[in-house]
Amino acid sequence: MYQLIDGKAISQEIKAELKEKVESLRQQGIEICMAVIQVGSDAASSVYVNNKEKACAYIGIRSLAYRLPEETTEEELLKLVRELNAREDVNGILVQLPLPRQINEEKILLTIDPSKDVDGFHPMNVGNLSIGRPGFVSCTPAGVIQLLKRSGIEIEGKECVVLGRSNIVGKPMAMLLLRENATVTVCHSRTRNLKEITRRADILIVAVGKPKFIDADYVKEGAVVIDVGIHRNEDHKLCGDVDFESVASHVSAITPVPGGVGPMTIAMLMNNCVESIEKSRTL
Ligand code: GUN
Repeated sequence: MYQLIDGKAISQEIKAELKEKVESLRQQGIEICMAVIQVGSDAASSVYVNNKEKACAYIGIRSLAYRLPEETTEEELLKLVRELNAREDVNGILVQLPLPRQINEEKILLTIDPSKDVDGFHPMNVGNLSIGRPGFVSCTPAGVIQLLKRSGIEIEGKECVVLGRSNIVGKPMAMLLLRENATVTVCHSRTRNLKEITRRADILIVAVGKPKFIDADYVKEGAVVIDVGIHRNEDHKLCGDVDFESVASHVSAITPVPGGVGPMTIAMLMNNCVESIEKSRTL
C-alpha cells in the first residue's frame, strides 16, 4: 500500500503557520504587501492571480493586483515594476507569466528588485541558490521539498532523478535536492535510455509537461514519485505527467493530481512573501 502525499493538507498546514507569523508581525506594527501584475486575460493566468489574491487575504498579506490590458507596452510594464521597486510599502512583486509577445520577459524579470522577487526568477536569486547563499527560491520546487520533508521522506543520500530542465522547475529542483545532500540526475527530452535512469531513482520528480508520460516501466519498485505536471484530458479531467493508475501499485509514496504539488506553489509563494519582510529587517 502506498502513501498518498496530501499536498492540500500540507499546504494548508503551511498557510496556517504563516497566518500566525503574519499576525504576530502585525502586532509589532509590520504589514506585508505583495503586488501581482497580470498582462492580458489568459484564462489560466487569471485563475492563478485570483488564487494568489485569495491566499494573501487568508494569511493577512495585503495584495495589490494590477490587471493590465493585452496591448500594454514593455515600457509601460517596466515603468510600473520600477515604481513598485521604489515603494517602501511593497515587499513582494510578481509578474504573472506568460507575457504577451511585445514584451521581453527576460527584461522584465531582470528589472524586478531581487529583494522583492518572491517568484525567485531573477538571475541573482537563481545564482544565490546555485552557490548555497540565501535568497528567494522558485515556489514549485521549494514546495516539492516541503512535501517530502513533511511526509517524513528522507532526502539525504538518496538517488533523485529530476525529469525536466526548465528554469522554473527542473533546474532549481536539482539545486534544492543537492542542498539536501541527495545524489541528483537531471534528464530531459534528449536523454538516452531514459527508463534505465528513471528506474534508478529512489525519488523521481517528473516535470516534463506531457500527460501520463510516466508509467510503471519507468519506476523502481518502492520509489517515491512526485508529479509536477497538470493537464486536462479529453473528458476535461485533470491529470499529471504520471499515469497514476499504472504507477501506484509500484511506489511507496506518490502525489495525486490534483491535490499534490499544485497547492504547494501558492503556499510557498506566501512563504516567500513572509521571508521578504524577514530579509528586509535583517539587512
Ligand atoms: N506562470 C505559471 N506559473 C507561474 C509562476 O509560478 N509564477 C509566475 N510569475 N508566473 C507563472
